[in-house]
Amino acid sequence: MTARIDIPAIPVVKAPQTAEVLASLPVLSDAERAALVARIKRLLEEQDAVLIAHYYVDAEIQRLAEETGGYVSDSLDMARFGHEHPARTLVIAGVRFMGETAKILNPEKRVLMPTLEAECSLDLSCPAAEFVPFCDAHPDHTVVVYSNTSAEVKARADYVVTSSIAVKLVDHLRKQGKKILWAPDKHLGAYINSVTGADMLIWPGSCVVHDAFKADALAALKKERPGAAVLVHPESPAAVIALADAVGSTTQLIEAAKRLPNKEFIVATDSGIFYKMQQAAPEKTFLEAPTAGKGPSCMACAHCPWMAMNSLARVAVALETGANEIHVEEEIRRKALRATQRMLDFAKTLKAPVLGDA
Ligand code: 13P
Ligand code: SF4
Repeated sequence: MTARIDIPAIPVVKAPQTAEVLASLPVLSDAERAALVARIKRLLEEQDAVLIAHYYVDAEIQRLAEETGGYVSDSLDMARFGHEHPARTLVIAGVRFMGETAKILNPEKRVLMPTLEAECSLDLSCPAAEFVPFCDAHPDHTVVVYSNTSAEVKARADYVVTSSIAVKLVDHLRKQGKKILWAPDKHLGAYINSVTGADMLIWPGSCVVHDAFKADALAALKKERPGAAVLVHPESPAAVIALADAVGSTTQLIEAAKRLPNKEFIVATDSGIFYKMQQAAPEKTFLEAPTAGKGPSCMACAHCPWMAMNSLARVAVALETGANEIHVEEEIRRKALRATQRMLDFAKTLKAPVLGDA
């Protein structure tokens, strides 16, 4: 079956430059940083709060989540952990859809984020005002959306998935004879289509970070380093995926780094993941896959500008003032919960839902 791209024009997403975002954050001395970490630890305890971080945020936030009984993971496992943890407040260090997913699953909990400005180009490329009529125009399709979407888009979906289970869920639906309307990532959609052969209509969104990985430069780097294995997140273009030794979600790529015998890896995903990759395989070496442009001319330089907005200082302020609380309108939340809960239920039916799948 071929994948078709047959969609209304989507908004042009204007992303901030990662280097500018990082330059705008205050530089802290070691003493200031230590004081901030101590303050956050105290606030987490006082407020019955737990810190849940994505692999792409600042390594210091990831370390703090680990040290305080919180969690660092991919978007599926962040949702699961927050759902199962008894804390009254969830502090989600990541991007807005991750905070919204936490709220959709946990309406009784307070969900805070270090900043509400942390968007995602996939989410922004798929506004509900355009997506809903598109779905309505294709009533014979099962609507499967990536977790990187707004609560409103999830509310119109039949299923939500993350990259760790997307192939398996679509294949499961294909076996039931379903036609799929997939949104918003065109590269992930094309990848799922190439693996499953499902009949798919694909929304043409993309991730500003992964879309910038370059196959030609990657092939050249591979030649220079013949012993290196290539790890690729499936939000990358097909030509980059074609060069991969392992394709998978962030957790699956970390597992592949541990499992594969290679000593060196070229990694086509956000460089924030290197903190956990290095921890998982300390004797191995990780190199960034090449992106479009270099230095000031690259937009994201393999690091998401919105993930970069998460800082220790903002975690502290959110906890101290209750700022940046996530609210989802109840009617939307209830509808979005249906497809989001199906994601968790489907993940439960898989033998190895997250790990070792790459
Ligand atoms: P994961 O689901 O693999 O964590 O990916 C989320 C994401 O935003 C990747 O860019
Ligand atoms: Fe969205 Fe890409 Fe950033 Fe992930 S890395 S949050 S997909 S913009």
